[in-house]
Amino acid sequence: MAGSTANLRLRSLGWWRKWARKDWAIATLAFTVIVFLLTLISNSLPDEPDSSVSNPFDPTTAADLVDLTLLHDAERRGALCLDGSAPGYHFRKGFGSGAKNWLLHIEGGGWCNTIESCSLRKRTPLGSSKYMDRRVQFSGILSSQPSENPDFFNWNKVKIRYCDGASFAGHPENEPKNGSKLYFRGQLIWEALMDELLSIGLSKAKRALLSGCSAGGLATLIHCDDFRGLLPRDSTVKCLADAGFFLDEKDVNKNWTMRTFYRDVVVLQDLAKSLHKDCVARKEPAKCLFPEEIIKHVSTPVFLVNPAYDFWQIQHILIPEASDPHGYWKKCKLNIYNCNPSQIEILQGFRRSMLNALSEFQKSKVGGTFINSCFIHCQTWFSETWHSPSSPRINNKTIAESVGDWYFNQNVAKQIDCPFPCNPTCNHMNFTQFSRG
Ligand SMILES: *[C@@H]1O[C@H](CO)[C@@H](O)[C@H](O)[C@H]1NC(C)=O
Ligand SMILES: *[C@@H]1O[C@H](CO)[C@@H](O)[C@H](O)[C@H]1NC(C)=O
Ligand SMILES: *[C@@H]1O[C@H](CO)[C@@H](O)[C@H](O)[C@H]1NC(C)=O
Repeated sequence: MAGSTANLRLRSLGWWRKWARKDWAIATLAFTVIVFLLTLISNSLPDEPDSSVSNPFDPTTAADLVDLTLLHDAERRGALCLDGSAPGYHFRKGFGSGAKNWLLHIEGGGWCNTIESCSLRKRTPLGSSKYMDRRVQFSGILSSQPSENPDFFNWNKVKIRYCDGASFAGHPENEPKNGSKLYFRGQLIWEALMDELLSIGLSKAKRALLSGCSAGGLATLIHCDDFRGLLPRDSTVKCLADAGFFLDEKDVNKNWTMRTFYRDVVVLQDLAKSLHKDCVARKEPAKCLFPEEIIKHVSTPVFLVNPAYDFWQIQHILIPEASDPHGYWKKCKLNIYNCNPSQIEILQGFRRSMLNALSEFQKSKVGGTFINSCFIHCQTWFSETWHSPSSPRINNKTIAESVGDWYFNQNVAKQIDCPFPCNPTCNHMNFTQFSRG
């Protein structure tokens, strides 16, 4: 019964396949991004997000779909999403030579910085498991196909859903006490989740890779060393942050927009307790939430995948809405090919800032980088950008190959691309088709 229903559903989805995989990847990425941009700072979220329309571009096949598991003792542990529901994850068992290896990938989705914006999240998958898709596609770094994911295809894989609004680093002390129910349990979610994964086999891991994209990439860096500490001493443990290297830069109006935003997040959910003590002792906690500071204190090997023209950072750190009241940057922010020469020069300055922020890290013997010159954001969980014939490459290596070389110590692990527009392999995002004007 169930099988024939699934078949029917698949057959009716046949028209989807007419679109090339690349188009799907880009469209899915664009849609995902738009959804989470809406969630980030703006208040314009629809009242009742309908989970059935949360991903209209989803080109999944049944084989790639993995069910949602709600954390078992969430209630008892007080490990709860913003709305008080149980957090979730998707688990696929490893096989063959990967049976004792584990890859974790933390979902992204920005942060909330006020009671109001966190309350809005309660009615989205980023604040409540009530709205999460019950099955998600495992692709890119989560794919089980050796052709799409040469080094990790047969590992145990976990996609961790993000529903606390503060990169798994919030603490309950500042929860509103006036009756408006809002839970700040990021750190508790992280701890309960790790215990559950340890109990289903992670505690016997031979190799592990903690990864995540965007706010999940930041969570990866925050929790990298404590993850290492949970696993057997003789295991190999490393961390991969994708599009999580958020820069502590001024915007084009010379305002500290991002630092101010992070300050609000840190204060609202009391993040300082989850940040490195040595940093918090010497600097204001908001500074300690920036990866440039975090990586100074991480001793576990880290790999950073980040585009030098990360569109999320360009749209929110460098040129936030408020910094461009006349819309001078509007077209450029939608498509890098629309930028005029003086705008490109400013973007090159942003790239130089990123390389500068990475200069110490570049000396690390155990660290790796893949800083490509593309206008994109997350690149590891899409097969198209992770490892495919049309993937972005540096020195002819895909991201998957570069990460694999680093993980297994096979080769040079520091890849830095030449500046835009030199790399013809980029999949630059084009948001023009999604904007009204
Ligand atoms: C509780 O306080 C917050 C501000 O701290 C406010 O936004 C919210 O509306 C209040 N809720 C109730 C139920 O009074
Ligand atoms: C940013 O800077 C401009 C001019 O330097 C100032 O007028 C504005 O109020 C500042 N704040 C924001 C949020 O843009
Ligand atoms: C780039 O790598 C591909 C395989 O991934 C190989 O077929 C091709 O010859 C390489 N090109 C160059 C210029 O090395």
